[in-house]
Amino acid sequence: MSTFAVRLFGDPVLRQRAAEVEELDGDLARLASTMIDTMYEAIGLGLAAPQVGVLKRMYVYDLGEGPQVLINPEIVESSGAWTYDEGCLSLPGMQFEIVRPKLVTVQGIDLDANEVVFEGDELMGRLIQHEIDHLDGTLLIERLDPDRRKEALREWRRAQLEGPPSMGPSSGAPAVVGGSDRSRHL
Ligand code: NI
Repeated sequence: MSTFAVRLFGDPVLRQRAAEVEELDGDLARLASTMIDTMYEAIGLGLAAPQVGVLKRMYVYDLGEGPQVLINPEIVESSGAWTYDEGCLSLPGMQFEIVRPKLVTVQGIDLDANEVVFEGDELMGRLIQHEIDHLDGTLLIERLDPDRRKEALREWRRAQLEGPPSMGPSSGAPAVVGGSDRSRHL
């Protein structure tokens, strides 16, 4: 199993807008497969291509129904509001209560070029919005109000000084900043 290193907050690649995928080829399928392995190794629910340094509009996820890939995703409708303690593999060990629309409809294509459209409610809706944020170069820390963002940055710097965060089950003690739960890392 080969995996990528997950890029962490502070890496400039995470702030760039990813480009539309124009060609569905073997390279893209291999990228998706390695991203899936990386996501499982990091114990995350989702992973967007920029998080492994690839500026393509694609993300992978698994909310319990096996690994899925979505390419060139776009939210076409959203409604409601839902609060969730959201985490991110690029900010391991941290999570923030963030309000976003509860229900979204997303449109994109799969690896076989089939168009897919589906509704995501609650956690699925949250994952869709979080991963598309990654494709637009936005991290969840930017979704916080200025005071909470400052506090989060302080916490992150403190965690970095105390040692590298855990990136998987094999790398020792888990990062425990703010009572984190890796199962909430999108
Ligand atoms: Ni994330």
